[in-house]
Amino acid sequence: MQVSTFTSKFDAMLKGNYTFTPDEQAGYHLFNGKGNCNSCHVDGRGTTLTPGQVDTSTTATANPPLFTCFGSANEGLPLNPRNAFYYQTTPDSFGFIGNPFGFGYRDLGMGTFLRSGFGSGPNPNRTWVQFAPMVDGQFQVATTRNVAMTPPQCPTTEAGTGKPYFQKEFFHNGYIKSLKQLVHFYNTRDTSFAKNVTSGHCPPGTIERVTCWPMKEVPNNLDTTTGMLGLTDTEENQIVAFLETLSDGFTTPYPNSDTFTGACMTCNPATDPNCSPSRQGNGELIPTPPLPPCASAICGVAPVPSPPIP
Ligand code: HEC
Repeated sequence: MQVSTFTSKFDAMLKGNYTFTPDEQAGYHLFNGKGNCNSCHVDGRGTTLTPGQVDTSTTATANPPLFTCFGSANEGLPLNPRNAFYYQTTPDSFGFIGNPFGFGYRDLGMGTFLRSGFGSGPNPNRTWVQFAPMVDGQFQVATTRNVAMTPPQCPTTEAGTGKPYFQKEFFHNGYIKSLKQLVHFYNTRDTSFAKNVTSGHCPPGTIERVTCWPMKEVPNNLDTTTGMLGLTDTEENQIVAFLETLSDGFTTPYPNSDTFTGACMTCNPATDPNCSPSRQGNGELIPTPPLPPCASAICGVAPVPSPPIP
């Protein structure tokens, strides 16, 4: 794999051509330490380092690092009712029905693949089917490189920072709308913010994605190395600052094959209560009906998920 062409602040820092700001540096320490992010988004350094601790570990993977171990994990994302897929329950003009199960559909990730389940290509090796219940809900670890990348007109992914922003969706189902939300999710998913509701129905007095995380789409096989990290608000922001150093284009302009012709998003925190990276996207939340049981054609296909997925 060609890995020598990265042009981010992080890569310039490794070569001694860029000095991290104090926040970026603090975020880097948290990524490897209290946040434990690099146990999956591997960067070739030891994990759970405390500030000031000297890292004596040897480079584990590619150098410069790719920020993924290429493994899989279930990060416990809530079902995202804004996916058009849930509404594709009637035939289109060709008679094709995208999702006959509606909200009874569950994305079991790797489990779906091993069962050659609905929406997945066939598993090339049928002897792996037995392992499906051990991997239900798991998705491949994405790289953290270029997560903050935006078209040049829209300098950030984060609303309310005083700059026009480019709306991205994070994780496999796009439930998370900003990097601040993403880090806050890892930090507080399994605290008292975890609520037994679907998206759009957080209890009064709570705010979805800020003090309320709806139920996990697939509760099985949850990664519990994150979910209750004890990061402060400032520390969350510092990890975001570090993630923003991973965008290519800093030392050499990024070769953009398509010019972005759309408009950037803007919002005014004085008039829009959802104009902040924490609440970004909340203005368009769709209340979901209480979830019907997972369709038997999905959760009933042998080997059955264990425990059963509601
Ligand atoms: C146990 C492994 C694991 C740990 C620890 C972990 N992640 Fe992840 N990360 C994943 C997986 C798996 C995905 C893809 C999940 C999905 O799409 O549902 C992911 C995706 C991401 C993405 C990419 C999202 C996108 O849409 O491109 C970012 C950014 C990220 N993680 C940041 C972090 C940060 C920051 C931490 C530490 C606070 C962290 N991760 C800790 C496994 C992990």
